[in-house]
Amino acid sequence: MKLAVIGGTGCQRLTGIGTRWRPAADSADTPYGAASAIPQVSPTDSGEVFLLARHGYPPAKAPHLINYRANIWLLKELGVDAVVATYAVGAIAPHLHNADLVVPHQIIDYTWGRRHTYVETGEIRHVEFSEPFDGGIRAGLISAADQCDLGSTLHERAVYGCVQGPRLETAAEIDRMERDGCTVVGMTAMPETALARELGIPYAGLCLVVNAAAGRGEGPITEAEIEVALEQATADVERLLVAFLPLNT
Ligand code: HPA
Repeated sequence: MKLAVIGGTGCQRLTGIGTRWRPAADSADTPYGAASAIPQVSPTDSGEVFLLARHGYPPAKAPHLINYRANIWLLKELGVDAVVATYAVGAIAPHLHNADLVVPHQIIDYTWGRRHTYVETGEIRHVEFSEPFDGGIRAGLISAADQCDLGSTLHERAVYGCVQGPRLETAAEIDRMERDGCTVVGMTAMPETALARELGIPYAGLCLVVNAAAGRGEGPITEAEIEVALEQATADVERLLVAFLPLNT
């Protein structure tokens, strides 16, 4: 099995999940333009694990400028069977705390102007997207959590509200998102999740909670708060994926 990890903020180089990394391609070019980076690949007992840095390596691409179509296309060309994507998020629901991990089950898309589909000319397709994330991969991530010693909590459900960024939200925007049913807010799950569905690649996400969303914490959101949570959560992501991979590759 070939499993790809799309590494979001803080997870550009999860070197601990593989042992012998090498570039998986000569170039990042695709018919849709250049992917964020050339994916790295490492062998596993029964396949390979790929790592694609969503924001590039070193990270330099803002969420609204990422070429999501090229990223997913390149993974498809490499023969990837499944994707686990990580995203840094802000917590809207009060039961979520900094450095927690969350396996989202639903999405609401608030982004605009992103190249969000492969359906342009020729056959017009409307992919089924009622359940945006793959149930099998979600279950695998949740059961892997029982087999490793995580520093913080893994939550089994969240509604991910995907915003355009790169600015953070106003408190009123977060209030509206909460009324909509969102429990976490981030900038990168869409259109990535839908593009994977269009190409038929099973895909699930893993959120790293790095701050309380706007108006939900003690004061303004600070870089310092985010950095501390990101470092702790990234260590947990690596632990979780080390447990998950042997079960699934
Ligand atoms: N809002 C949007 N995206 C984010 C946040 C946030 O508070 N934290 C991390 N990514």
